[in-house]
Amino acid sequence: MLCTRGTKQGMIKNMAANIVIGTQWGDEGKGKVIDILASRADVVVRSQGGNNAGHTVASGGEVYKLHLIPSGILYKDTLCMIGAGVVVDPKVILEEIDGLSSRGVTFDNFKIDPRAHVIMPWHIILDGLSEKFRGNMDIGTTKRGIGPCYMDKYERSGIRIYDLVHPDIFAEKARATGKLRNSIITNVFGGEAVDIEAVIKEYTEYGKRLAKYVDDVSVLTYEANKAGKEILFEGAQATLLDIDFGTYPYVTSSHPISAGVCIGTGVGPTVIDKVYGVAKAYTTRVGKGPFPTELDNETGDYIRNNGGEFGTTTGRPRRTGWFDAVIVRHAVRVNGLNCLVVNKLDTLAGLDTLKICVAYKKPDGTVVKDFPATLEELEGCEPVYEEHPGFKDDISKCRSFDELPEICKSYIKRLEELCECKIAMIGVGPDREQQIER
Ligand code: IMP
Repeated sequence: MLCTRGTKQGMIKNMAANIVIGTQWGDEGKGKVIDILASRADVVVRSQGGNNAGHTVASGGEVYKLHLIPSGILYKDTLCMIGAGVVVDPKVILEEIDGLSSRGVTFDNFKIDPRAHVIMPWHIILDGLSEKFRGNMDIGTTKRGIGPCYMDKYERSGIRIYDLVHPDIFAEKARATGKLRNSIITNVFGGEAVDIEAVIKEYTEYGKRLAKYVDDVSVLTYEANKAGKEILFEGAQATLLDIDFGTYPYVTSSHPISAGVCIGTGVGPTVIDKVYGVAKAYTTRVGKGPFPTELDNETGDYIRNNGGEFGTTTGRPRRTGWFDAVIVRHAVRVNGLNCLVVNKLDTLAGLDTLKICVAYKKPDGTVVKDFPATLEELEGCEPVYEEHPGFKDDISKCRSFDELPEICKSYIKRLEELCECKIAMIGVGPDREQQIER
């Protein structure tokens, strides 16, 4: 059973504030779950990351690919907000606004926090140059300037949305920080300097267009909560990409875990009612970094092709592997998950055997059940697998747990036991109706 009931029209409202989080390395199908919950919410807020994220939402026969704008935008009366912890590329957000507007989506209820940091052209250039400089040790970033923008934020030299919409302040800050970044681009990396005055001209125009959306998201979220509105905090990226609790350094530069929602929105933890964790019935990863259950073989190719595992943001083929209960249990712990959603069970149809990683075996033979804190401790760990019979049935038309073949039911029940968390929803296909609620 879903943790939240009622719809804006239908009406048993429980005034909840829910978070949706990815439990693996991203791309778990959060978009669909977010869309289902957003249809019942009054307010949808995004709190971290930037246009490195990609949500595909199918709604009313149309497919929307969203990168920065929260999915709540597809619901006319929903207040849809970008919190202080997000990094905003003004060019990208305006393209997204224009694209969605041309398809009839309205932006009357859209807000951006003045504290959110702005991704500037030098951030994107530096993302590419530093990845190149790392050579074989590159992270495999999305090259959208996310890391360098957060670097400036924490170095306290960043440009914020407030600055962008105030041309004089913006020009002054852009000249100061741009000069420094240019000297790094040219002197450290031998790259080509950015034309700062041209950037100021271009970005001032973006600022003019974005000004009407700027408002204090912390205050608006707090007030909405006090007024008993239903709030959805839309997660981007995922637990194993968290800067502290992910596979550092192969992570993103923000906090995609549930605690990041409070920091990135400006609300206290007592506001939150429920945290949903989304997983796939197997595992995928884009970019570099460890992946203990990776299948670099025909089975991995089968899962990739059957599941359409190619990135929404970059189009890169995703790495694929078996379900890893060690990482999902880690996500249950660090996010304080109330329930899990397991997506894409249908993708596994046709495989003779399904494997679940239940623990890791260290090189010295010891078996660990908790995800190691460092890559050094993870190195050499071999997955310990449990085998389950595969299924051939087309489950995409199943609409209740009882309709699923026994083999699928026992696979789901076993995941639930191993992850120590209730599985509240199961995805059997890309459409909203192909989501089984338990
Ligand atoms: P960055 O966020 O562009 O700095 O990239 C850092 C790492 O996070 C790379 O491995 C990216 O592929 C990964 N990453 C960032 N955003 C997403 C996402 O939304 N889904 C999956 N992986 C992501």
